[in-house]
Amino acid sequence: MGVIERISGPLVVANEMLGTRMYDVVRVGQLGLIGEIIQLRGDKAIIQVYEDTTGISPGEPVESSGVPLMAELGPGILNNVYDGIQRPLEVIRSKSGAFIGKGINADALDRKKKWRFFAESKVKNGSTVSSGDIIGYVQETEHLKHYIMVPYGTEGKISGLKSGSFSVDQAIAKVTKGSKTTNITMMQKRPVRRSSPFKTKFRSEEPLLTGQRVLDTFFPVAKGGSAAVPGPFGSGKTVIQQQIAKFADADIVVYVGCGERGNEMTDVLVEFPELVDPKTKRPLMERTVLVANTSNMPVAAREASIYTGITIAEYFRDMGYSVAIMADSTSRWAEAMREISARLEEMPGEEGYPAYLPKRLAEYYERSGKVESLNGAIGSVTIIGAVSPAGGDISEPVSQGTLRVVKTFWALDVALASARHYPSVNWLNSYSLYLDALKDWYVKNAGESFVNDRISAMKLLQREAELKDIVQLVGADALPDNEKVVLEIGRMIREDFLRQNAYDEIDTYTSLAKQKMMLSTILYFRTKAEDAVAHQIEADNITKMKVREEIGRLKSVKESDVEKEEKHVRESIDSEFRALLKEYQSEVEKEKA
Ligand SMILES: Nc1ncnc2c1ncn2[C@@H]1O[C@H](COP(=O)(O)OP(=O)(O)OP(=O)(O)O)[C@@H](O)[C@H]1O
Ligand SMILES: [Mg+2]
Repeated sequence: MGVIERISGPLVVANEMLGTRMYDVVRVGQLGLIGEIIQLRGDKAIIQVYEDTTGISPGEPVESSGVPLMAELGPGILNNVYDGIQRPLEVIRSKSGAFIGKGINADALDRKKKWRFFAESKVKNGSTVSSGDIIGYVQETEHLKHYIMVPYGTEGKISGLKSGSFSVDQAIAKVTKGSKTTNITMMQKRPVRRSSPFKTKFRSEEPLLTGQRVLDTFFPVAKGGSAAVPGPFGSGKTVIQQQIAKFADADIVVYVGCGERGNEMTDVLVEFPELVDPKTKRPLMERTVLVANTSNMPVAAREASIYTGITIAEYFRDMGYSVAIMADSTSRWAEAMREISARLEEMPGEEGYPAYLPKRLAEYYERSGKVESLNGAIGSVTIIGAVSPAGGDISEPVSQGTLRVVKTFWALDVALASARHYPSVNWLNSYSLYLDALKDWYVKNAGESFVNDRISAMKLLQREAELKDIVQLVGADALPDNEKVVLEIGRMIREDFLRQNAYDEIDTYTSLAKQKMMLSTILYFRTKAEDAVAHQIEADNITKMKVREEIGRLKSVKESDVEKEEKHVRESIDSEFRALLKEYQSEVEKEKA
């Protein structure tokens, strides 16, 4: 037991702390505030406290728990909203009323609730089990089997394994090695700051589909990959992350609201419980865990929230699930590190961030991956982090540290956002380094033609940008008709395909099949337009064509009507171009006569 020497914001210096270890969780002061040792100097410990430190004073006791910060993992974790150190907000609120009280102990998993546990029939009592082995499951939601795994570090002969109704802290089996017998419960704890062990990491060849056209078609992230969404104030970072949380084809979604304004998190908390998974038609919260740590909550807990989130993600990965984790915003996390580092009087690195910022960022993103877990199941963690560089200038350390490690970059653009082109992903600056690895998947699932369409659409957009520069100098009239067509088609790709309204009931989500149809229809129009221009039709006539409206309306076509509508639009394209050519020919004849 130690004694508080002094308090500086979220940091407490305590004496008489010999025998404690780095990263041990401690209880600070009479209030028993929760903290973590982040530095040891002689018998002094420096503790970062996850709660507001007003109300504790020097001389008060500090008690170490002897264990590092752990995440509690087991049935009941889904459909939950936690704070940065995994206390369920609901429980904290009911214990402390409107204002979150201090030193509140709240188990992450409900100890009273009983779950039906089904023992794995292949695991016979008396057989040997080891870390990660699946010994049974709980049907946690209608669509999700929550597998119960032997905790890391436990191995030996299993006995007493049986199905039945248990709470998470009741033994469902025992594992004996030598003279040591360990009770196995449905709950396990993992230290959050260490990545969970696995057998091997693979290159991923499957995209995480998001239903967002610009992402799925042009800049996909692989399942098990990582992506960054940097963008200035108000450019759409939160909306894009929430769209992914809603629609990504992941089995599990962990959403970390990290240091953003409370109202953004309130939106999530109010909206998510109402949302329905488009695939399973079940409430989306059934596959979701929210970690909420808003700007008004203590800064150290914000620092921890990222680790709590990723540890939960890894746990489900080990069961063989694909997990997507979003963090909004990693810049607030880095600022928390900066604040703590400054109070520790560490030597500051770039822009006052600690020198270890790049390392921490890399360590975080390296916890993504598609892996074979210890039990042989193949699962993945995909990490998507929002970055909020001040003024949108990505030369700052958090953006740079992130870009060095992530392989997908969705650059949000303030000019697009102010033109209300959402999502404001800049198609010229963004990139995905997974395109090669994912190519076979796309060919197999969307066809070779889709892959080719994506390439030609991107080339066209690049050409459009060049032409726009020229137009700035010499005016549009100076362009030959075939280049005017490029501008026209570029506009169609931007407005009718890339632009996607998150608030429109249908437009909010587009299946890959529909994306393919939309893009190929625009490019079909393009071949017709080029052909027409080659036959002396003026580009202005093409701009005025009625069918363009029909193409623009494809966004709002219901998924079930896509095939029918595509056929219809192509017929309109054919007939309008036929009419255009006919008109032109009859004019030519007239002139001849
Ligand atoms: N896909 C979209 N469809 C329609 N509107 C959008 C879309 N994306 C963003 N917006 C609009 O832009 C606004 C700002 O977006 P958002 O809150 O996501 O920005 P942000 O980058 O998270 O901002 P901050 O820096 O304040 O956190 C939204 O409230 C919404 O009106
Ligand atoms: Mg935001």
